[in-house]
Amino acid sequence: MTESDFIVVANRLPIDLERLPDGSSRWKRSPGGLVTALEPVLRESRSSAWIGWPGVPDADVEPLIEDDIAMQPVPLSGQEVTDYYEGFSNATLWPLYHDVIVAPEYHRRWWAAYVTVNRRFADVTAKAAAPGATVWVQDYQLQLVPKMLRMLRPDLTIGFFLHIPFPPVELFLQLPWRTEIVEGLLGADLIGFQLPGGAQNFLYLARRLAGHQTSRGSVGLRSRLGEVQVGFRKVRVGAFPISIESSRIDEISKRREVREQARELRTELGNPRTILLGVDRLDYTKGIDVRLAAIEELLADGDLDPGEIVLVQLATPSRERVDSYVRMRASIESRVGRINGEYGRVGRPVVHYHHRPVARNELIAFFVAADVMLVTPLRDGMNLVAKEYVACQGDRGGRLVLSEFTGAAHELRQAYLCNPYDLDGVKHAILSALTDSPEDARRRMRAMRRQVLSFDVSRWAASFLRALTVGPEAGHTLVRD
Ligand code: ADP
Ligand code: F6P
Repeated sequence: MTESDFIVVANRLPIDLERLPDGSSRWKRSPGGLVTALEPVLRESRSSAWIGWPGVPDADVEPLIEDDIAMQPVPLSGQEVTDYYEGFSNATLWPLYHDVIVAPEYHRRWWAAYVTVNRRFADVTAKAAAPGATVWVQDYQLQLVPKMLRMLRPDLTIGFFLHIPFPPVELFLQLPWRTEIVEGLLGADLIGFQLPGGAQNFLYLARRLAGHQTSRGSVGLRSRLGEVQVGFRKVRVGAFPISIESSRIDEISKRREVREQARELRTELGNPRTILLGVDRLDYTKGIDVRLAAIEELLADGDLDPGEIVLVQLATPSRERVDSYVRMRASIESRVGRINGEYGRVGRPVVHYHHRPVARNELIAFFVAADVMLVTPLRDGMNLVAKEYVACQGDRGGRLVLSEFTGAAHELRQAYLCNPYDLDGVKHAILSALTDSPEDARRRMRAMRRQVLSFDVSRWAASFLRALTVGPEAGHTLVRD
C-alpha cells in the first residue's frame, strides 16, 4: 500500500467481511453512524486511506480499494474480539460513557487487550502515513492511539473525534485506567466531542487527573476551543456536532421510485392512518423498550386505536454476543409479541419488527412513508437517524419525537422532545405529535430542515479539519487547579 497524506483510523472498516455457510465470504456495509458519516468524507478526498478491522476474527485480508477508498485491514484474533471489542470497548467503555445504563465491567485482562490492539492500530498507521500526514483517529475503541502514534511519528498532525457522549466526571472517575485514557487522548493535536459539555468534562479531567494547565473559558460549538498545555505542545479541545449527507438524502427521498416504494410500503402495511417508525442498531441505549412501553400503554388507555396505527421497528443486529445485548433483545422481542398478541388481528400486527439491516434507499422510503418518527434513546452522542428522517421530509410535515438525551436534541429544538425516563412524558410527546395540526407540524419540520441541510457532514468534517490544521489560537489564559 502506498503512503497516504490523510488517514482515518477507526475500529471498523466501512465494509465488513461476511463469512457465508458455504465457506465463501463477501463484503457488506458496516453498521453504525460512524460509517454513515465518514464514508462520504473519505470518498471525496484524494490520497486518503481508511485503517480498520474487517469485522470478523482472524481475517487475513490484503489492503483493498472499494468505492474509491483505500482500505488497510487490521486483524483481530478471536480472543481480542472477546476482550478488546466485546469486552473493554462494549462492556466497559460503552456503558460507562452512556450513563451506566447497564453496569460497566472492569477486567484487567480486557484492559490489557485494549492496550495491545490500540498499539497495533498505531503501528499500522505509523507505517501507512506519508511524512507530515494528517491522521484522524475515531471513537472510544481507540483512545490510546493518539499518544502511541505521536511517540512513533512526531511529524504527524493527529486529530481525535469521540462519536459517543463523554461522560460526567463522577462516572468517568470509576474507570481504573482513567489517567491512561486521558493521557492517550492528549497525544492528539485536536480532540473533538459532539457537545461542549463533553469538551468541558475532558478539560476538567486533564487538569485534575493529568495535572496539566488548561483554559477555563466555556467551549463553543465549532468555536472557542479549549486548550491543554502538554509539555511544549498545546492540545486543543472542541465541540463539533456530527451530521449526515443531507442534500444527497434529500435528493434520494424526492426520487419518483423512492416515493413509489414509500406508497407500496403503506399499502403493504394495510394502509393505516398513521405509520410510526423506529430505526436503530439493536442497542439498550436506544430506548426501543421505552417507545414500545409507551405505545403499549397508549393502546391500553384507548388513546391509540390498533386499527389505525402501525409501528414499524427496524433493528440492525449489533454486538450479539455481549450479555446485556442478548438480554435486551429477548425483552424487546417478548414485548413486541405481547403487544401483537393483545392488539393485533390476523394478518394485521400492530408492531412490525425486523431484525436485520435495510438497504439505504429502502430505508429512505421508510423515512418518507413514516408519519411519526420515534427516536427515544436513554443517551446518544448524536443520533443520525433523527437527522436522516428530517432530511427525507421535503415539504411534508413528518413529526419527530426525540429524546432530550441525544446530541441531536441540542440542534433539533422543534422536535416533540421528551425525557425517556418519564413514560408519561413520552406518551404525551407521541400524542402531541399525532394530534398537532398539519400547519404546526410543517412549521416545526421546516425549521429542523434548515438546520440539517445547512449543517451537513461535509461542514462537520471541514470545521474539524480546519481547526486541526491551523495553528493554536493565541491569547488563552491557562490555569492549573
Ligand atoms: P449509532 O451510531 O449508535 O448506530 P446513529 O443513529 O448515529 O446510531 O447511526 C445509525 C446509522 O445506521 C444511521 O445512518 C442509520 O440510518 C443506520 N441504521 C440504523 N438502523 C438501520 C437498519 N435497520 N437498517 C439500515 N441502516 C440502519
Ligand atoms: O459511535 C457509535 C459506534 O460505536 C461506532 O463506533 C461504531 O462504528 C458503530 O457504533 C457500530 O458499532 P459496532 O462497530 O460495535 O458494530
